[in-house]
Amino acid sequence: MNILILGSGGREHALAWAVKQNPKTDRLIVAPGNAGVAQLAEVADLDILDGAAVVTFCAENAIDFVIIGPEAPLAAGVADACRAAGLLTFGPSAAAARLEASKAFTKEICDACAAPTAGYARFTEAAPARAYIAAKGAPIVVKADGLAAGKGVIVALSEAEALAAIDDMFSGEFGAAGAEVVIEDFMTGEEASFFVLTDGISALPIGTAQDHKRVGDGDTGPNTGGMGAYSPAPVLTEAVQKQAMDEIVLPTIAEMARRGTPYQGVLYAGLMIENGRARLVEYNARFGDPETQVLMLRLGAQALDLMLACAEGRLAEAQVNWADDHALTVVMAANGYPGPYAKGSQIRGLEELPEDSRHMVFHAGTAERDGSTIAAGGRVLNVTARGATLADAQKAAYAMVDAIDWPGGFCRRDIGWRAL
Ligand code: GLY
Repeated sequence: MNILILGSGGREHALAWAVKQNPKTDRLIVAPGNAGVAQLAEVADLDILDGAAVVTFCAENAIDFVIIGPEAPLAAGVADACRAAGLLTFGPSAAAARLEASKAFTKEICDACAAPTAGYARFTEAAPARAYIAAKGAPIVVKADGLAAGKGVIVALSEAEALAAIDDMFSGEFGAAGAEVVIEDFMTGEEASFFVLTDGISALPIGTAQDHKRVGDGDTGPNTGGMGAYSPAPVLTEAVQKQAMDEIVLPTIAEMARRGTPYQGVLYAGLMIENGRARLVEYNARFGDPETQVLMLRLGAQALDLMLACAEGRLAEAQVNWADDHALTVVMAANGYPGPYAKGSQIRGLEELPEDSRHMVFHAGTAERDGSTIAAGGRVLNVTARGATLADAQKAAYAMVDAIDWPGGFCRRDIGWRAL
C-alpha cells in the first residue's frame, strides 16, 4: 500500500522507519520530512495544515493510508478532510483533537466522566485569575487553553511567577491560545506517558515512556520539547496502567463517543503517579516526541498493523507483541537551545554508525547540503538504542552519541537516570 506520513520531526522519522519495515508498505512519502527521513522514504513539499491540499496530494499519488504526526494539522481538521474524501486515516477529528487543543475542554471531559485530575478553575479575564492565584498561593499551574507549541504550561513555584504568566497570557503573548486560561492545583508525584490506540470504541495500550523536559543534567534549567526518553516507564506498573485505563482513558473514550465525537488515533495520556495511583496531567492527540522514537524502535513493523487496525475500526482483534526489552533515546540539540541557536553547522560521523533494529539515529531538525547533514533546528538528532536492560540501552545510545562529530550541538548525559 502507499502511505503518507505528515510531519517533519524525530517522531515522524521513527514512524516512517517502523512503517517501512512492514512488507505491506509499497510506497512511503513523508511531508515535509527531513534529511534523515529522505534516506528511507520520499519527501514531499506540502502544506500539511491545508486539508484540501493534502487530499489532492493523496489523489495524485494514489495514497491508501494517511498517518498524521503533529497536533497542528489534527486541530486544523486535516483528518476530517481526509476521511471526508474517503481516505483511510490515522488521527482524530478536529472535534476529538480538542482533548489536546483545549485544556478547558479536557477538564470538562474529566468532570463528565469523573476521571482523576487536578482541581482547576477557568478564566477569560486577568483580574479574577489574579485574585484566584492570590487566594490559592503557589506552587500552582497556569495553562493557556489552546495550542502553544509546548510553551503554554507554566508550573509556577511562586505566586509572582504565576501572576506573570497570567499577564503574559492575557497580554496576547500566546495569541488566541491564551484567550482563556486554566489554573490548576499543583500535583506532586512522578510524571510518565501512557500511549493508547483507540478506534473510538476499543482501546489498546501500546506502551509507556518517560521523557526529560529540562535542558540540563539532573533535570535542571529551562523546559524544552524533550531532551531524551526511555521505554518502558517503570513507574507505570501493570496495576497503575489498569487503574489509568479503568478510571481515565476508557471513561474518556466513552464520553467522547457519547458526545458524537468519537476519538480515533493515539491518545497520549500524560499521567502523574503518586502512591500507586495515576491522575491525568494532560492529553495529547498524537504520539509524543521523543517518546515515539523509543516506542517505534521497540514495536518495529507491527506499528503499521496496529495503526491500520485503529483506522479500520478493528482494534478489538489487535494485540501488541512486545519484546521484553528497553529502549532509550538521547536528543542532541543545537548549542543555545532552547534559547536562540545557530543553524547550518555540519554533523559528521553519522554514516559510520550502525543502523539496524537495535540502533537508529532519528533526525528532527536536519537538512542536507552538498551531500552533508547540517543542523536546521533546535532539537536535531534522536540517538536511539535498544537493550536487554535500560542500562544496556543507555550505554549503546551514548556510544553512538560519542561517535557523532558535531561541535555545534550538545546533549544531556543522564537520560534514564530516574529509572536507573
Ligand atoms: N514529549 C512531550 C510531547 O510530545 O508533548
